[in-house]
Amino acid sequence: MSESFVLEDARESASPARDEDRRVFIKSFGCQMNVYDAERMADIAAEEGYREAHAVEDADLIVLNTCHIRERASEKIYSELGKLRELKDERRRRGRGTTLVVAGCVAQAEGAEILRREPAVDVVVGPQSYHRLPELVREARLRPGVVAADFPAEDKFAHLPISTRGAIRRRGVAAFVTVQEGCDKFCSFCVVPYTRGAEASRPVRAVIDEIDRLASAGVREVTLLGQNVNAYHGLSEDGRAVGLAGLIRAAAAVPGIVRVRYATSHPGDMSEDLIAAHRDVAALAPFLHLPVQSGSDRLLKAMNRRHRVADYLDIVARVRAARPDIALSSDFIVGYPGETDAEFEATLALVRAVAFASAYAFKYSARPGTPAAEALGQIDAATKAQRLARLQVLIESQLQAFNRATVGRRFEVLFEKPGRREGQVIGRSPYMQAVFADGPRSLIGVMAEVEIIGLEPHSLRGRVVSPAS
Ligand code: 5AD
Ligand code: SF4
Repeated sequence: MSESFVLEDARESASPARDEDRRVFIKSFGCQMNVYDAERMADIAAEEGYREAHAVEDADLIVLNTCHIRERASEKIYSELGKLRELKDERRRRGRGTTLVVAGCVAQAEGAEILRREPAVDVVVGPQSYHRLPELVREARLRPGVVAADFPAEDKFAHLPISTRGAIRRRGVAAFVTVQEGCDKFCSFCVVPYTRGAEASRPVRAVIDEIDRLASAGVREVTLLGQNVNAYHGLSEDGRAVGLAGLIRAAAAVPGIVRVRYATSHPGDMSEDLIAAHRDVAALAPFLHLPVQSGSDRLLKAMNRRHRVADYLDIVARVRAARPDIALSSDFIVGYPGETDAEFEATLALVRAVAFASAYAFKYSARPGTPAAEALGQIDAATKAQRLARLQVLIESQLQAFNRATVGRRFEVLFEKPGRREGQVIGRSPYMQAVFADGPRSLIGVMAEVEIIGLEPHSLRGRVVSPAS
């Protein structure tokens, strides 16, 4: 029996669940890094004897892993917490205690403010401290309302278990691995340098050991994650600094790993070596998510992006020369303070010039504490909405054109799960598209050559030509 996790809330004398019944429910918002963190928190809970709750109503421990990148993201959390307070009350009436944890970047940014706004919360834990979850939950039992939102000196990763207890959240075929956290770029609109802290890279050995363990558990594809992943500079065992390209090569060499991806990159860190890896490493997917944010040099400067439009186009040209079949994706912000109609048109022109396979567009949202939040010339909501809609129409048309162009092509699909219909399997193309095909379940975990034979609204139809590995 493990004594680390507490199930009952100290303020409520509801009885705890029996050990074997303990359930955890983790809901994650926001980026892929949060998905990874949620998996690691699930590992911690598994080590403490928790099983996964399929519905939040059944959970003795509820974790909301939050995102602070845009306004709506954090507002959503408070409305979610209101519902969870009611759920907690309802469970208490049935004699069950519930521990409510707020993790992630809202926890980091707002700390104790969360407890003031929602007293039903038991623990607030930032992204650098969640390895302490068992101890924090224990503390909350004695003194509810525990906050851990500092940047501890110890390495979180050194304290994280990879669950051996039948993986309560099975990683499946494709998994994330955080290799780098934090950011030193300080783009003027962005909270990440404040919520995730200074840029730090995990040592090569630690990353490769984790990938090794994932591969032994059946994982075939890894996405190396970092807020600014191509700034990666982890130490090798002999004390050398290794860049992302070196790490990709090492990850691709792990037995069982057939595909490697990485996200998210900054144009300023797109090194020659990394571009060469796109040419040389067969397992590296020909897909690059490279946020540019704007097509206006004046705005890029105001955003403190440290690159111009021409630099971006130059990188795109070099990456395409290294790997002609590469597909590109990006992030855009519309309505940044002071953005004129002409500057917005410049963003549309950049999108037309590059032709993306996919892209994400966001309305600028003022984040407290960031320089842009104080800038003059905040754009009104209607203009932002209009610009967003125009940009999204363009992005959608490029996405559809990209998908149409894949019909008749053959490429490698890594099958991940059974399809909705019997005798069908679903996987992903190198370009992240969902592809379904007729085939046996034994194809799951296999990278197969597939010919694309049709288009559905959100996926591609394929025909398996031959299993490639
Ligand atoms: N407002 C709108 N979008 C933002 N992003 C980051 N901060 C903001 C903000 N304050 C977007 C950027 C980034 C993506 C993850 O979120 O485009 O690349
Ligand atoms: Fe935020 Fe990315 Fe800029 Fe870092 S590089 S400050 S994470 S937008």
